[in-house]
Amino acid sequence: MNKLKEILNQQLDIIKSEPVRAFALLYPYLLVIGIGFGLLYISNLNIISRQNIPIVLSDTTQVQDIRLAAAQTVPAIDIFKLSQPTDSLLSKGKLLYSTNCVACHGEKGLGDGAGGAALNPAPRNFTLKDGWKNGSKISEIYRTLQEGITGSGMISYNFLLPEERIAIIHYLRSAFIPDAPLDTKDDLTTLDQTFNLSKGMQLSPQVPVAAAINLISDESKVNSEKINSILAQINNESNDIGAQLFNKVAKSKMLALAALSSSNQWQENKNLFIKLVSESINTAGFSNEVNSLTSLEWDALFNYLSKKI
Ligand code: HEC
Repeated sequence: MNKLKEILNQQLDIIKSEPVRAFALLYPYLLVIGIGFGLLYISNLNIISRQNIPIVLSDTTQVQDIRLAAAQTVPAIDIFKLSQPTDSLLSKGKLLYSTNCVACHGEKGLGDGAGGAALNPAPRNFTLKDGWKNGSKISEIYRTLQEGITGSGMISYNFLLPEERIAIIHYLRSAFIPDAPLDTKDDLTTLDQTFNLSKGMQLSPQVPVAAAINLISDESKVNSEKINSILAQINNESNDIGAQLFNKVAKSKMLALAALSSSNQWQENKNLFIKLVSESINTAGFSNEVNSLTSLEWDALFNYLSKKI
């Protein structure tokens, strides 16, 4: 034990008096410590790298496709009349609430519906007073239903008619919201003007993007099937003068037929036909050969194709 102390003391003396030698003496210890940490690091790599994976927060801002909606006239309403809850508004509101809102806001308006369990921010508990983003006046909830709340699961309910929204609002306010604040006359006037309530409006039809893509691809599928079958017929009828002329002047038969089947106006008369064919020389359907067609050949080609397409 004493020996050990003696050695340590000697080394301490050296450290104090000769720093360079001290470093040389300490070097083996430093090396061992360094290697030790290195080995420790490597043996824990698994845990370390797992901890380096960033925490993923689930994204609750869902991107929703627009709904399929027919063109509709939004009937004008008199917000001053409708600002008073009536039995009929309340029962209509209750029904609409149960079909549109219960899933998230819950039967009792506590924000505890199963559909809202994973949402962040959570659906509003209507019975609590604090933390409303737009507020709980009629005019404020109307804005929420018109615009939704950005960055949350609360989407816009602008597909509900204004009167339906007012009905739900009355139901919310009477069933769940304690001491629901009243709108002033100014609030209602602003509401009326902001959303054109007393004018009504014409809404254009809307097709969800996904459905539109399907429609277009179905349409082009039908189109290309049609073109393929016309092409097969033309190939079969190679004795027909019309088919021969078509084969002669079409640079790409598919493109030529696509150009012709994209409109049927040309079938009305030969001049429109000639115009369309001449134009599609540029779009690669027909070749310059069309310029050498005689008037009789144009007739034959026109008669042949207008029966086919
Ligand atoms: C998909 C779930 C979901 C549905 C369905 C839903 N909401 Fe919400 N709602 C939410 C969420 C989430 C919030 C909280 C938004 C926030 O605090 O940012 C919210 C907030 C609200 C608010 C409070 C706005 C404010 O000022 O803070 C109102 C009012 C509201 N919703 C009404 C309705 C009505 C009425 C319906 C039915 C027509 C409905 N919600 C349907 C999820 C939903």
